[in-house]
Amino acid sequence: MSVDNASIESVLKETRTFDPPATFAEQANIRSEEQYNEMWQRAKDDPASFWGELATEHLHWFKPFDSVMEGKMPETNWFSGGKTNVSYNCLDRHLETDRRNKAALIWEGEPGDTRVLRYQDLHREVCRFANVLKKLGVETGDRVTLYMPMIPELTIAMLACARIGAVHSIIFGGFSADAVADRNNDAQARIVVTADGGWRRGKEVQLKAAVDAAMDKSPTVEKVVVVKRTGGDVDMVPDRDFWWHDLVEGVSAECDAVELDAEHPLFILYTSGSTGKPKGVLHTTAGYLLGATMTSQWVFDLREDDTYWCTADIGWITGHSYITYGPLSNGASVVMYEGGPNWPDEGRFWEIVEKYQVSIFYTAPTAIRAFIKWGRQWPEKHDLSSIRLLGTVGEPINPEAWMWYHEVIGQERCPIVDTWWQTETGGIMISPLPGITPTKPGSCARPLPGVVPDIVTKDGTSLEANQGGLLVMRQPWPHMLRTLHGDHDRFVSTYFSEIDGCYFAGDGARRDEDGYIWVMGRVDDVINVSGHRLSTMEVESALVSHELVAESAVVGFPHDLKGEGICCFVTLKDGSGDDELVKVLVKHVREQIGALATPDKIRFAAGLPKTRSGKIMRRLLRDIAAGRESVQDTTTLEDLSVLAALRNDEE
Ligand code: WT7
Repeated sequence: MSVDNASIESVLKETRTFDPPATFAEQANIRSEEQYNEMWQRAKDDPASFWGELATEHLHWFKPFDSVMEGKMPETNWFSGGKTNVSYNCLDRHLETDRRNKAALIWEGEPGDTRVLRYQDLHREVCRFANVLKKLGVETGDRVTLYMPMIPELTIAMLACARIGAVHSIIFGGFSADAVADRNNDAQARIVVTADGGWRRGKEVQLKAAVDAAMDKSPTVEKVVVVKRTGGDVDMVPDRDFWWHDLVEGVSAECDAVELDAEHPLFILYTSGSTGKPKGVLHTTAGYLLGATMTSQWVFDLREDDTYWCTADIGWITGHSYITYGPLSNGASVVMYEGGPNWPDEGRFWEIVEKYQVSIFYTAPTAIRAFIKWGRQWPEKHDLSSIRLLGTVGEPINPEAWMWYHEVIGQERCPIVDTWWQTETGGIMISPLPGITPTKPGSCARPLPGVVPDIVTKDGTSLEANQGGLLVMRQPWPHMLRTLHGDHDRFVSTYFSEIDGCYFAGDGARRDEDGYIWVMGRVDDVINVSGHRLSTMEVESALVSHELVAESAVVGFPHDLKGEGICCFVTLKDGSGDDELVKVLVKHVREQIGALATPDKIRFAAGLPKTRSGKIMRRLLRDIAAGRESVQDTTTLEDLSVLAALRNDEE
């Protein structure tokens, strides 16, 4: 999508609306339009008093803050003078209430093994592992990499880091050894916590083997802690590698939560940008936790007796904010599942919903499209009547997928919250409120209190209703990223220099006549594969790192299941490519980045379309990848024959 000062053409016209069920509204946390309007207006006009009151009421402070908010975007500082601890807020404060015996984590492994940890149990395990980290020499501010399957030890390790002020950097288990090494180095991690492996569709994902390969290139890492999960063979390097179960044996279950500054770093999470290496998004303590806590209450309408399940992996921001921190800060019961949705069969998710009587279910459009493909007979085999609320996140949801979710999973009874947010925003920004907002399939509806979005042209002019433009935030919010780890200049230039005085999200969007926001996708060279951002640049570098490749250009194209697929145009140093080389390059990219970056199409070309200044014209390639007749302007193209050759090559 190219954006200039004209608006972006929007083709989606959707007119259906669905009112929230009356019974839902009666009991909801935010239950009237007036209440929402009043909150939103107050948060906009007087953010300090709005957020200050919430922080005092909903978080535990060892020492109260002196001021709510200082500075302007991008340099904002929240709750300064205040001392708190995220792990204390998620655990200790519940132990003084009836929640101490409540299930915190309800975990199911892919093979069908289960574990339930009550709040007291989780607290005990977190304290023990925090003591282990201290024994390993981890100090406040040190970075710890977590490269783990979806098992309780991941949640335990996160909260143990937070307890002692260590900064976790979680790397999704689908990333390769090289990606782990890059992130270890960028974060200067001292410790890696991993497992022998994890289960995914009946196969073992060998995490420890990947860590071993990464260790050769990770000079800052001193020690590796390994959870025994699959029992697979692993090499343990003496004095470097330690089994989790050996380390926690006999360790005290008492460990005071460190009283940390409100702005103490909580975690780094890497996300793709359009240029260069992944960006280490840094979130801090109090503001992030307040955002995760409040948005969980507002959007998921969490109640004491809910059983809440978010199907994301904790390796993504969704899992950080809405499996661990938001729900646990609210004392909720959280379902966590290790494996694939179609193992042993396509009914696994619905079996889990029925088994644990899940009442809130949060997933991604890419998963919903897979459910549709597998057929409604799978959910229909199970009793889904416990569900009262559905959510989606990760990419725009196509209205047909929304309708299927509404009818087949929600049984026309449950509100759907389509939540727009980003790794950088820390928590949900734009979303229906389930008790009050009439929903329109495909729209994430209206901003939450404290969120002041606008849709603008490149020079910052606000656009009228139904004109597409750039989605920006005009006011800071407590849970926004504070910097990119080690590269504050890149933080400022990526998010704050595009549109004067605003945070620029990188998405195109329009607002309709009712003020509802319709997100149209990324405007930069970032593609959204299965709800996760992937930089085309990184896939290109991976390809070019192969000895036979001269140059490559990578673009997204519409893909039934993944939302966007990855199409790679490759020119070779010598000779022409064949099916064999396609396989070699696909494998090469997977090794360099990980399975989620697996190319869907690789096309060999004699040349790539470029401007006279040598810039690859990706918009032209996008049309070719999608099999569309191009109506784009080609006047700046240097060599028109290149394009003709690519078109003729189409299968
Ligand atoms: C990008 C952020 C937030 C957790 C998952 C992805 C897209 C996200 C929606 C939505 C339309 C959405 C945007 C955004 N996106 N949610 N409800 N409707 N688009 O986190 O990897 O940081 O990606 O995902 O393009 O910028 P992320």
